[in-house]
Amino acid sequence: MQHSITLHSYAKINLGLRILRKRPDGYHDIETIFYEVHPFDVLTLTEHATIEFHTDHPSLSSDDSNLCIRAARLLQQKFDIQKGVHIELKKTIPLGAGLGGGSSNAAATLVGLNKLWNLHCSSQQLEHLAAQLGSDVPFFIRGGCALATGRGERLSHVHVTVPYWILVATPPVHVSTAWAYTALNFLDSREPHYAHVVSELLSNNLDALLTMTNDFEPIVFDHFPAIRKLKEFFTVQGALFTLMSGSGSSVFGFFPDRETAERVQSNLPTNVVSFLTPPNFSARIHE
Ligand code: C5P
Repeated sequence: MQHSITLHSYAKINLGLRILRKRPDGYHDIETIFYEVHPFDVLTLTEHATIEFHTDHPSLSSDDSNLCIRAARLLQQKFDIQKGVHIELKKTIPLGAGLGGGSSNAAATLVGLNKLWNLHCSSQQLEHLAAQLGSDVPFFIRGGCALATGRGERLSHVHVTVPYWILVATPPVHVSTAWAYTALNFLDSREPHYAHVVSELLSNNLDALLTMTNDFEPIVFDHFPAIRKLKEFFTVQGALFTLMSGSGSSVFGFFPDRETAERVQSNLPTNVVSFLTPPNFSARIHE
C-alpha cells in the first residue's frame, strides 16, 4: 500500500501548430505535434482525508480553477472515492508560457492518483478523463511525442525524437491561450497536413521538422514584440530552426551541439528564463 508518490511533470513544446477551423462549440480544430521537454515540475501526492494543495509558486491559486485540484475531484467523483490527497507542487515550468505546465500537472495528478488510490485505469481511460480538464491535458498522460488533432485532445503517439539540442526560452510575458484564439479571429477552413509530416518523420526524413510553422506567431508577435525579438535572436545566434511554442510566450531553437546551445543560452537577456533538452530526449511522467 503506497502512502505517498512523487512524479516529474514535464513541459511540452509544439513542433508545429496549424489551426484548421473554428467549431460551433467555440473551440478550434487544430493539428499540432507535441513533444515533451525540460523543464519539469515535481508533484508529490500523499494520502490525506481531504483534497489539499500547496505550492512554492506565489501566483498559483488554490481555487476551483486549479487544475490539480480539479483533476483530483474528477477522479473522486468518477470512482466515488471517499479519500482525499495532499498535493505538493514544486514549480519550475513558467506560467502562461506555451509550455503546458498546468496541463502537465493535471495529467500527473491523474496518473499519480490512479496509483495512490488503486484505480487501475488504463492510459486511454486517463486520457479520456484528462480531456475534461483541458485540450492539452491528455497528451501529458503518456508524454513523448504525439500528433494531436481535434481541439488538441485526439492523440496519435509516434516514436519520434528530435536529434538536436533544444533550447527553450521564456521572456517575462504571459500570453493567454483564450486571448490568442480570439485575437486570431480565424474564419477559414483548411485541410490537415501533419499526418504527412509525421510519416516523413517516421521514415527518418527529419528535415521535415525544420519546415514547421505556428499559426499563432504573427498575431502574438504583433502584440508582444519581445517574443518576436527572441525568435530573431535565435536565428542570429545560429539556430538550425526556431519557433514559438503554443500561443507563446516561449520560443525554442534547435542547435547542432551542446557547446552552441550553451553559448546561446548564456547570451540570452537576463530577464529570459531558459531550459536545455538533450538530443533524442524521451521523458515520461514517472515516480
Ligand atoms: O482547453 P483549454 O481550457 O486549455 O483551452 C483554453 C481556451 O483556449 C478555450 O477556452 C478556448 O477559448 C481556446 N481553445 C480553442 N481551441 C482549442 C483549444 C483551446 O479555441 N483547440
